[in-house]
Amino acid sequence: MLPILAEHDGGRTIEALLIERDPTLSQRARTAAIGLGLPRTDVRTADAGATDTYLHIQPAHLLLTCGVFGNITINDVGRTIAMLHTLVLADGIVIWTRGRTDDGHDPSHDIRACFAEHGFIEMSFTSPADARFRVGMHRLTARPATVPPMPPGTRMFSFI
Ligand SMILES: C[S@@+](CC[C@H](N)C(=O)[O-])C[C@H]1O[C@@H](n2cnc3c(N)ncnc32)[C@H](O)[C@@H]1O
Repeated sequence: MLPILAEHDGGRTIEALLIERDPTLSQRARTAAIGLGLPRTDVRTADAGATDTYLHIQPAHLLLTCGVFGNITINDVGRTIAMLHTLVLADGIVIWTRGRTDDGHDPSHDIRACFAEHGFIEMSFTSPADARFRVGMHRLTARPATVPPMPPGTRMFSFI
């Protein structure tokens, strides 16, 4: 993502927040952001599954949950999607990924249904027949006029 931001005209003015629990990986991202001249990219070594991590963060135009939903239970996926309207602005976009399993089971369809239940419309869904990865892009069209802040001390997901 960082090289793409750096290539983008507005890359240096876009505010971006990366959350990674692993200190080595987050430091690597921090170093990369500095090297690419992205002063408004903030990399936090923090738990992305804990609501406390987001308490003072403004809702985003674009939120990426890539490499996440395949590592957490379907209950946690549901709990997380149900809280995304606090993290995304009205008409904001969520891009997410999920792989299908070798036996043909494709959990991405449950995830698409879950987004639909929580006020999102699907902008695109990429599912090549010859590949296991799936990429969804959903827009939050039914954000309530007032959204209470995230409840503190609450867990959305844990990696399993
Ligand atoms: C499958 S990788 C995805 C990396 C990247 N988003 C991508 O798509 O290439 C999952 C990453 O999530 C990090 N991670 C796991 N649990 C986390 C948590 N609770 N909070 C923040 N990062 C977490 C792992 O350290 C790992 O770097």
